[in-house]
Amino acid sequence: MRHPSSLNDPSCATPPALRALPGRLVCVQQRGLRAGLMVSLMISLMGGLPLAQALSPVPPPPPVSAPRALPAPEAALAEGPKPGEVTVVEPHLSRPGQAVQVRYRGWPARVFLDRWLAPGWDAGDAELEVSALDGFVSRIPVERFRQYSAWIVFARADGQPFRVDNHAQGEKQVPLGPYYLVWDNLRDPALQAEGGAVWPYQIGSVRRTPSSRAVLLPGTLAGRYGAEAQALQTHCLSCHQVNGYGGFKMPLNLALRAREIDAQRWQQWLLQPAKLKPGTTMPPLSEGLPEAERAALAQQLHDYLKALPLQP
Ligand code: HEC
Repeated sequence: MRHPSSLNDPSCATPPALRALPGRLVCVQQRGLRAGLMVSLMISLMGGLPLAQALSPVPPPPPVSAPRALPAPEAALAEGPKPGEVTVVEPHLSRPGQAVQVRYRGWPARVFLDRWLAPGWDAGDAELEVSALDGFVSRIPVERFRQYSAWIVFARADGQPFRVDNHAQGEKQVPLGPYYLVWDNLRDPALQAEGGAVWPYQIGSVRRTPSSRAVLLPGTLAGRYGAEAQALQTHCLSCHQVNGYGGFKMPLNLALRAREIDAQRWQQWLLQPAKLKPGTTMPPLSEGLPEAERAALAQQLHDYLKALPLQP
């Protein structure tokens, strides 16, 4: 059990540009802890359980699970549970000020992964590693699944092909199957502003992995750069790496590259990559955010990466 003083973690003082990003999950999770504590206290005060017993932690699920190759959608459909439908603002098709809605068929992530990974996959402090057939790896903190509602979908509800144009990466008619992870963002402008960074498609396998906190926030960095580390995870580490941790699409060590590139070139790469390299598949950072906030976020990522100790 974390000491309640961590409820005042300075990382909750999120800089403005990061407020729309999942960095704030850190604080939300702590609020959850506090609520849990209150409930335990109330139960014990009401004479239900002795205090010590009420506060004794539930054994956490193991941090790592073996990679689980997902069954083909036909097999998953045949075995149940029954699928449903969800309408989302499709980040790959939407442009600033132009939201495009798409309705998909699939299962709430919790229902699907309870069945095909293991119950408890979203408990505690861990990450869900989602591997796509093309080498794109998303690692999503499981606490994000506790805060927002995700779906694992396998088809469009309107019968159109299960494909999408990915404006940000300059790719057209990208196949989404077998599975695509989407977020129920219709009523959540902050989720919409994030863009498609944590909407992995062509998902072939999933597993639960230990939290990346030790790699991304060693030593005293935790108190200062919590939100930046989260933004880096969301927006960059599906393709790039830091100190050996991350994805394999372009496995360059950003902690090293950040030191080699000056502030101006860094901003250009993050905000308008296609200007530096026409046709690149590197997506511009969070296009849904106002320009000034994008620039501030790019700057914060640069500062954070330079502060991160460099490992060979
Ligand atoms: C979808 C994959 C993808 C994501 C996500 C991504 N990049 Fe890239 N990035 C690339 C690719 C591919 C290149 C190489 C450019 C090229 O050859 O097209 C690149 C190039 C770069 C470069 C220039 C490297 C050099 O050699 O000078 C920097 C810096 C960079 N990325 C930083 C970032 C940061 C920071 C983020 C997060 C905000 C990010 N990238 C997100 C794919 C990605």
